[in-house]
Amino acid sequence: MNQPYVFITRKLPEEAIAPLREKYNVHMWPHEDIAVPRDVLLEEAKKADALLTMLSDRIDREVIESSETLKVIANLAVGFDNIDIQAATEKGIAVCNTPDVLTDTTADLTFALLLATARRLIEAAEFVKAGEWKSWSPLLLAGHDVHHKTIGIVGMGKIGQAVAKRAKGFDMEILYHNRSRNVEAEQTLGAVYCSFEELLKRSDFVVCLTPLTKETYRMFDREAFRMMKKSAIFVNAARGAVVDEEALYEALVHGEIAAAGLDVFVKEPIDPTHPLLKLKNVVALPHIGSASTETRLAMMDLCCRNIIAVLQGEHPETLVNEEWKWSR
Ligand code: DGY
Repeated sequence: MNQPYVFITRKLPEEAIAPLREKYNVHMWPHEDIAVPRDVLLEEAKKADALLTMLSDRIDREVIESSETLKVIANLAVGFDNIDIQAATEKGIAVCNTPDVLTDTTADLTFALLLATARRLIEAAEFVKAGEWKSWSPLLLAGHDVHHKTIGIVGMGKIGQAVAKRAKGFDMEILYHNRSRNVEAEQTLGAVYCSFEELLKRSDFVVCLTPLTKETYRMFDREAFRMMKKSAIFVNAARGAVVDEEALYEALVHGEIAAAGLDVFVKEPIDPTHPLLKLKNVVALPHIGSASTETRLAMMDLCCRNIIAVLQGEHPETLVNEEWKWSR
């Protein structure tokens, strides 16, 4: 009998994919820093039983319907907005993600980005290295305090809650907005639920951690930025498309908000000539929310376990499309 065929869309460390190599015919796109071209992805998907994909791969209806053999798509991310879940479910394909293992790492990065933006760390470090530090002076690179301020978290899932936990350590008042109430965050961290508008008006730090859906697409628009305090700092560690980037740029340039820390962008990689990158009050990172070696290896391991489970006819650990199990 032919071994199941697994295609991995980016070069991953051999030790991480060893469990797949032991059992299956594994093919891997050979580049770490070049995304798999669309035509190669389509060709590979056609014959694959399993795909191990990256958040940068567009796994749309065309890819999904091109295959008669595909049984599972394991995405190396907690977010899955790059995959057409409806199309996969219709074809009886399981879609899996990597929640939990990345929660604390992503919360660390989000809080680090908040601190770096508020206290102008990147600007300050570049200032020293450029030899511009001529003397100590009272307001040299003075930023904004973080402790005892109000943080407003939009998207109080597991990562949001882990950010709130860090904020509590900084004696911050914690507001949140979410589709549903997070009773645990309210009870254990004193987080206060409020409407989106109220959160925007009251927060010193507006932190976006909401998944990208039809409902959240461009929820941070011109009106949203206008509602924020002039001293507010906006942090986005979710997905770029929840923000209208032109509106954000205008808000930053016209002083409607003070600064932004961005780990994600509408188009990734962002064009280096993008106007947002010209602004001193923007800290930009290359989508590294979950990028610690330990966590990325744990995510790869979870993807392998999910693929093996589905190909063995078992229930995967972290299934996105719950309907899949009823379609079998
Ligand atoms: C994810 O996994 O969806 C996050 O964007 C990681 O950075």
